[in-house]
Amino acid sequence: MRLSGALVAICASALSKTAQAQCEGVVPGQYTGTVFQNSLASTHALSEIAFFKIRDPSGAHTCTSDGAADLSLLTFQSLNTSQQRPINSDLQRAVIVIHGARADPWNYHAGMIQALEQVEGDGITADNVAITAPYFPNDEDAGTGYPYNANGVSPAEKYPSPALAWYDDRWAGGANNQYPPNTPTVSAFDVLDQIIQWYGNKEMFPNIKQIVVSGHSMGAQMVQRFAAVGKTPAQLGIDTPVSYWVGDPNSYVWMATDRPLSTGKCAAYDNYREGFANYQSYGTERSPSLTYNEPLVTAGRDAILQNYNSKTIAHARATKDKGDYNPDNDCVTYPTGQDRNERFFEFIKRFPAKCEDPAGACHTVDIVVSTHDAPTMFRAPAGLARLFKDNWNGLGGRAYDFGYPRHATYDDPYPDPAQAGQAIVGSDSTVYAGGKTFRGCFSDADKAQSVGSLAVSAYVGELNSRTYCSQLCTDRGYPIAGVSWQNCYCGNALGSQTVQVVSTSCQGGCPAGDASATCGGPNRLSVFSSIDL
Ligand SMILES: *[C@@H]1O[C@H](CO)[C@@H](O)[C@H](O)[C@H]1NC(C)=O
Repeated sequence: MRLSGALVAICASALSKTAQAQCEGVVPGQYTGTVFQNSLASTHALSEIAFFKIRDPSGAHTCTSDGAADLSLLTFQSLNTSQQRPINSDLQRAVIVIHGARADPWNYHAGMIQALEQVEGDGITADNVAITAPYFPNDEDAGTGYPYNANGVSPAEKYPSPALAWYDDRWAGGANNQYPPNTPTVSAFDVLDQIIQWYGNKEMFPNIKQIVVSGHSMGAQMVQRFAAVGKTPAQLGIDTPVSYWVGDPNSYVWMATDRPLSTGKCAAYDNYREGFANYQSYGTERSPSLTYNEPLVTAGRDAILQNYNSKTIAHARATKDKGDYNPDNDCVTYPTGQDRNERFFEFIKRFPAKCEDPAGACHTVDIVVSTHDAPTMFRAPAGLARLFKDNWNGLGGRAYDFGYPRHATYDDPYPDPAQAGQAIVGSDSTVYAGGKTFRGCFSDADKAQSVGSLAVSAYVGELNSRTYCSQLCTDRGYPIAGVSWQNCYCGNALGSQTVQVVSTSCQGGCPAGDASATCGGPNRLSVFSSIDL
């Protein structure tokens, strides 16, 4: 509700200038946030720093006289091809891109604009696509990303600006902010909601057909969790469709209490942000309880999965990215796979990508030949399709999955029919000694699993190969053989904790034999058997 001119005048005389703004309630918006000092710079000619005004979602500070509701988010905002702010009614799409663990939105913003410049056809340009990269800084950014007064005594003196900042990496799970110290009640997910609502306002942006929320690496961790617990467009009061692009996250929030690998050594494995236990306690080192969309979390995993499946989500996976291989230090992610690659395939296997109605909400799975590199992922054909082209005209069009070469049967929910018959990577139809055939890639004793997979170490050396080990185990009377580089193991049964994992975890070379064949991987065995496993 707008106040009359007379009331505003009274208000202005009684309150400070900042507080006066709060008299009318806080209206979130790009370019309207309070400017604060920083030493950041854009790295692309079509990128500028802009400040987004954020409303305190708790409502506690809206329209109060203490100025505490003045919350400002630094963003990088794209310019049009004339290097000016784009004309609102020209915009057909908004792409929000979340930075990785280094909190460097300028790089992600530049990478996304460069990808946009690669798009051919449909007249898709910086004149009709708005790209926004929000900044989620932490304590390491104090003094560079937002004002910091080392001589301040109280927190309010130390952090004397309306700049939003979070504790450590907790923004990636939607935690509340820690600065400004007087208002630690802004979930990072609320920030995304307010940016989505801004672009979903049809009075301002009548021609925006699609809002895309994208992130790579830790930014993808945020986007995937936001897709799981985030509000639907209807709950946000907008009609514009919202889609999510999840590129190469370290881990995925798990929408069940089970895990594909042993959890025995990790009591915290199901805590948010890996599962949903203790959701409220997440990121409370410096801020109050996390209450963002709590009714959904309280409703349970099935409700969360249903929410997830109601969204359009693009899962993007780089073939050469096996990073975050860290079974020792990060026990909570380990039970879902030993590296980013395994975690991706295990997630898709457990929670299959849904595309029952290709014209409606649809999950896509895109395999991209790349290392862990955001710009390469953005400008790959699969990236350009999801980020810029799918549903460009608002008519629901969507590219087929770029799930080729296929790594698993479940990586093609919406396959290109022309390629659907392609062989799966790593398949092997050879019949080895004793009638042994390839059964896939299996876990072996490691940080999670204390029992070995096969009891007998039969050979370690340079002659090892699929053929060699199968023959050796057959000669010794064992029905099962397992290879991991120079190691050949034999047994009558697999160990009690052994589980099958994705074949891409067994891409290590064999010391001898067919050069194209693979022999297991770190803590992983390629298994050959003549009996049921
Ligand atoms: C860029 O935006 C400005 C307004 O900010 C407008 O005058 C100009 O025509 C736009 N350029 C193009 C190529 O659309």
